[in-house]
Amino acid sequence: MTTKAGLKLVDLDESGVDNAFRADVLKGLGQAQKAVPARWFYDDAGSQLFEDITALEEYYPTRAETEILRDHSEEFAGLIASGCAVVEFGSGSSVKTPLLLRAIDPAAYVPLDISGDFLRAAAQDLSDKFPGLPVHPVEADFMRRVELPKAVEHLPKLGFFPGSTIGNMVARTAVDLLRSMRETLGVGAQLLIGMDLIKDRQVLLDAYDDAQGVTARFNLNLVHRINRELEGDIPADRLAHEARWNDDYARIEMHLVAQGALEFEVAGARFTMQDGETIHTENSHKFNRRTANMLLLAGGWEPRMRWLDKAGRFALILASAQAERGAP
Ligand code: AVJ
Repeated sequence: MTTKAGLKLVDLDESGVDNAFRADVLKGLGQAQKAVPARWFYDDAGSQLFEDITALEEYYPTRAETEILRDHSEEFAGLIASGCAVVEFGSGSSVKTPLLLRAIDPAAYVPLDISGDFLRAAAQDLSDKFPGLPVHPVEADFMRRVELPKAVEHLPKLGFFPGSTIGNMVARTAVDLLRSMRETLGVGAQLLIGMDLIKDRQVLLDAYDDAQGVTARFNLNLVHRINRELEGDIPADRLAHEARWNDDYARIEMHLVAQGALEFEVAGARFTMQDGETIHTENSHKFNRRTANMLLLAGGWEPRMRWLDKAGRFALILASAQAERGAP
C-alpha cells in the first residue's frame, strides 16, 4: 500500500507477509515477558469482534461516550470553532462521528487511518450521511505528523480521538502521539478526546472479561492471526484469556496464559512457555481528572472542558493546543 507521497504504509515481503507484523511478533515473543502490540488485534475478524464487544452489557465505554456526545451537543457547538475541519484520528465510528458532526456543523471532515480499506469505507458511509460535507480521507500513520489536504489548510482544526484509544498506549507513546497531533493540527487547534476513568475494579475486570467470552475470542484471535499469517503452530486451545488490573499503572492488562508447558514455532523460530507464563497482548490505561490533565499537558494540550456520562464512568475532554511560551 502506497500513499500519494509514495510512502510505504504496509510493507509486504515476496510471499505477502506483513514485515512489521512478523518483526513485532518475533521480537515480542523473544522477550522475557512475552508481548505482542495491541494494534495487531485488528484484522477483519478482530475488528468484527471489537464491534461485538462494544455491544456487550459489561463493556460500558462505547455507550458512555455516545451518551456524552448525545447529551452535550449544544455545549460543543458553543465551544468549538464553527466552520472548522474535524480531523479524526482513526477511520471513525458509525455512531459517534455523526453525533459530533451534527452538533458542530463543520466545514470539512478529514479521517486519518493507516488502513486504506477501512478508511475508504468509513469515508463513503459518512459522505452518504452528510451529502453537503466535503470529506477528505487521508491514508497515513498518525503516530507521526500528517500533512493535511490543502482544502482544509485555512480552516480552524478540531482533532477527534474517541474511544479511549489513547489508553492503549504507555505514557511515553501517548505523549509522542499527542505532540504529533499538535503538529498535524497546528497553532490554535482544539482536540476532543475520550478517556476512560478509573473505577470499581470488578466493573473494569468484567468489561475486559465478559460472561459470553467475546473478549476472550478477541484476545485469542491474535493467536489465530499469527498462526495463519506467520506460519505459526501456537496451540490456541492451551492459552487462556485473562484480564488483570495493574494498580501501579492504573491499567487493565490482557494476557494469554499458558495452560501447561508449551512449545511452538512462528515464522521458523521456536518458542517455549512454562505453565502459567503469559503473552501480554494489551494495556488499557484508565485515568482520573489529574492524570488525564497531566498526560494532555505533557503532550502540549491545555484541558479546557470535560464532560462525564451520568454514571461518571468515562470522560470526554476538550483541549486546546498550547502556545509556545516561556514564562510559567
Ligand atoms: C478500542 C482500545 C478502546 O481498550 O477498551 C476492548 C479495546 N480491548 N476490549 C479498549 C478493547 C478489549 C478498547 N479500545
